[in-house]
Amino acid sequence: MEKAEIGLIGLAVMGSNLALNIAEKGNKIAVFNRTPEKTDEFYESAGDLKKQIIPCKTIDEFVEAIRPPRPIIIMIKAGEAVDQQMEALRPHLGDGDIMIDAGNANFRDTIARFDRLKDSKLTFIGMGVSGGEEGARHGPSIMVGGTEDSWKRVEKVLTSIAAKYNGEPCVAWLGNDGAGHFVKTIHNGIEYADMQMIGEIYGILRDGLGKSASEISKIFGSWNKGRLNSYLIEITEKVLAAEDPVTKTPMVDIILDKAGQKGTGKWSVIEAQNMGIPATAIEAAVAARSLSALKSEREAAQKIFGASDYSFSLPDGSNLEKDLELALFAAKIGAYAQGFAVMAEASREFGWSLPMPVIAKIWRAGCIIRSQFLDEITKAFTDAPDAANLIVTPAFSAMVKESVPALRRVTAAALSAGLPVPALASALTYFDAYRQGRGTANLIQAQRDFFGAHGFDRVDGKDFHHGPWGSGAATF
Ligand code: 6PG
Repeated sequence: MEKAEIGLIGLAVMGSNLALNIAEKGNKIAVFNRTPEKTDEFYESAGDLKKQIIPCKTIDEFVEAIRPPRPIIIMIKAGEAVDQQMEALRPHLGDGDIMIDAGNANFRDTIARFDRLKDSKLTFIGMGVSGGEEGARHGPSIMVGGTEDSWKRVEKVLTSIAAKYNGEPCVAWLGNDGAGHFVKTIHNGIEYADMQMIGEIYGILRDGLGKSASEISKIFGSWNKGRLNSYLIEITEKVLAAEDPVTKTPMVDIILDKAGQKGTGKWSVIEAQNMGIPATAIEAAVAARSLSALKSEREAAQKIFGASDYSFSLPDGSNLEKDLELALFAAKIGAYAQGFAVMAEASREFGWSLPMPVIAKIWRAGCIIRSQFLDEITKAFTDAPDAANLIVTPAFSAMVKESVPALRRVTAAALSAGLPVPALASALTYFDAYRQGRGTANLIQAQRDFFGAHGFDRVDGKDFHHGPWGSGAATF
């Protein structure tokens, strides 16, 4: 029997969709699931694709069905289950075989898994996959981390299944060990920021301007035809237009305002903080989800303080919809600039040589944050590869100059109206602080020196590094 080009373990929603995608693109695939009934069920529902699929009931049978060196995708819940599955597989594998974790793993776990296999005949790929169920089935964005040799073994299959942007596949090898999962983590951090900023603009329209869900849907629909064109804006339009089948009122009005999170957004912020890279808009988005979860506390606080009157108004002569659109665009630039800055630092720290234009390229289609905006980021980083930050590239500095005034007007009006806009405001203050040649940290340095004799550098370069308050001058 012809051997499979690749194997896949874990036939839950993401795994089965990915397996069907692999089969549909003409690759033979062996599949295995812990519960064999699931394998039968999957195989029976595969229709014409059955001829590309080898359903296996035992690990031995499964491993035997794949052409060596065997790439095996493990698509199960992130965490300990992955280690258990790897341990169960290990004794069955041979020289050069590659275990591929395609879940949303923490890249530090990926590095540890990679290292554990270092002196063995096996190797490991940490593969970030974005695009949800639909992406897995018809074309996800794929971020690969591992050795170059292992990438070469899987390149053809992954290229065949990845989303395409103008014919270019949205998959790339990004570096060693945890590079792929790290980039996926930052993708998710940006995803959180994008979603939160959209939510804040929705809040202004709903609470500050009294618009209905269907009116707001139309506004997002028109923005989707402009510079904000993206998957998240597109689904926002659709979500806002949807009706609850039970009450026949807008679906969004019936959904509880408590957001979940599985951890990847939080990891991106933790890593940014670990490396000392400001990612304030992403941090604000993660914190906003946590705050949203405190529903009963928020309700109790509203009883004490009352709700704000939310009377949102922009200065006379402003074009409201245009300003909101531009404000969202400016804030989005801030969030992406932060995400890319975190990746640039991680690349140095972990020795990955992360290719920024390539990352922007493979996010242009397939993933949750896909947009034409990412094509502009690709071009900006290609034209200015050594730029310290996205916002100082020639292309983006022009966009920032054009859009930040609107972000300032919108944020100021929202703050005066008592409308919470933490991600928009963080993006704005990030910009303001980033372009401030002389900030206020001189005072912090003085305070640190006052209470702890920490010393400071001087603007005049002279060799006196303590203030006239004496070392440790604090009195208690
Ligand atoms: C993707 C998404 C996906 C993520 C969900 C849920 O790129 O396809 O990022 O991987 O798991 O969006 O994430 P939260 O539950 O943390 O919102």
